[in-house]
Amino acid sequence: MRKYAFVLGSHPLISFLEILNILNVEKIPHEKPFRIGEEILLIKMKIPEAKLKKLQNILGGTIKIIEIMDEFSGTIFNLDKLLDEQHLTKDYFAQTDTKINFGFSVYSQKSLVYAEINWLRNFAFQLKRRLKTKYSVRYVDEKNFELSSVMVANNKLVETGAEIIIIKQDKDFIVGRTRTVQDFRSYVQRDMEKPSPNPKSGMLPPKLAQMIINLSRNAGQTQVFDPFCGSGVLLQEGLLLGLEILGSDIDEEAVEATQENLKWLLKTFNTAAPKIGRDKIKATSIQGRTRAADATRSRWQKANQTNVFIATEPYLGPPQRSIPLIHHARKTAQDLEKLYLGFFENLAKNYSKIKNVGIVFPVLKTNEGLLYLNILDEVEKMGYKRREFLPKEEAKKEALSSPRGGLLYSRPDQYVLREIFVFDKR
Ligand SMILES: C[S@@+](CC[C@H](N)C(=O)[O-])C[C@H]1O[C@@H](n2cnc3c(N)ncnc32)[C@H](O)[C@@H]1O
Repeated sequence: MRKYAFVLGSHPLISFLEILNILNVEKIPHEKPFRIGEEILLIKMKIPEAKLKKLQNILGGTIKIIEIMDEFSGTIFNLDKLLDEQHLTKDYFAQTDTKINFGFSVYSQKSLVYAEINWLRNFAFQLKRRLKTKYSVRYVDEKNFELSSVMVANNKLVETGAEIIIIKQDKDFIVGRTRTVQDFRSYVQRDMEKPSPNPKSGMLPPKLAQMIINLSRNAGQTQVFDPFCGSGVLLQEGLLLGLEILGSDIDEEAVEATQENLKWLLKTFNTAAPKIGRDKIKATSIQGRTRAADATRSRWQKANQTNVFIATEPYLGPPQRSIPLIHHARKTAQDLEKLYLGFFENLAKNYSKIKNVGIVFPVLKTNEGLLYLNILDEVEKMGYKRREFLPKEEAKKEALSSPRGGLLYSRPDQYVLREIFVFDKR
């Protein structure tokens, strides 16, 4: 087993839980993970080279995966002795024929002090000078030592040298090299280039769709069903992850948009786009897999199977342009509660073989604070038990967990937050 560090995305708790579930689903041998601050997850795992890249591509919430090479206790100045030319060229740089591009990123709960930053910059420039005698060298300087995945990719650090990572926790240092970074180009393409975006309902970001799927799926399940499929973001990500898909929506236009988008995905992905979780999407993977239906009444034998799980973002209410007054928001919440309960009721009645449901609940911002859908007890009575992602005491400490243990996802300018749950059928 080797030690790796995962740099977690903007919602680190969701990222962390996504990784835990996927390591189990993908049967990657690993030891108990260990969190350092908000941003870093350390895990010892056994993973073949090719699978590491795939792991990066299927995780919506991981920005970088780093292979740990060294650990020491002391101060940052000790790097001088540790990172000598021989060790770097042998163990850190990806290739050393002619050209080396390198940079440093530091992850630390407490920011580095001026003297440390200054020292590290000097160290980097000295290193560049020393290497220059043998190679054509480029040092990618970032003033705060926070290279983004975009900078790492654009400067080809992983393929042509290294992004050297320093993780600092008090006096302990962990040093490694970045092995993979999130493919931002692919996410932008999936988000922006599809032919039928759905301006009516808010857009689900592809990374979040991936995370919802990855949190909800159990090992062995091969089909994802989205009964509120909208323009099909979640289905698209399901296909890319290598799953079979089933989708429905009450709005026929939405179903047509989904079909257009999936055709586009098949064409784009099977030709030029980089592969995510599978090598090829077959045309049969999208034929007869979507239809118009009301999620509170419909019955679809195809979807009522034990290898099917649900991952969905249903309707989150009318778009808001300002913070609503509490009594307006209550009315919206009541309508949504009815829709959600109708869905769970129908699920219990017509989809008894489906055992797990990953679902987004809306949380409404109001002039009197956050308003949650108050339906958890009723959902439980219907036989769907909320999955406890973390032990209660730990959940309380998490800023990104709702008071009742849902996972919160939001951007600062949004009036409707998302609360993610996974329910398991008893
Ligand atoms: C936020 S969008 C769904 C986004 C979608 N999950 C995705 O991945 O792109 C909400 C969708 O729910 C649909 N909807 C609302 N009520 C419904 C119902 N009773 N049954 C099925 N779909 C419904 C709307 O037509 C809308 O397309």
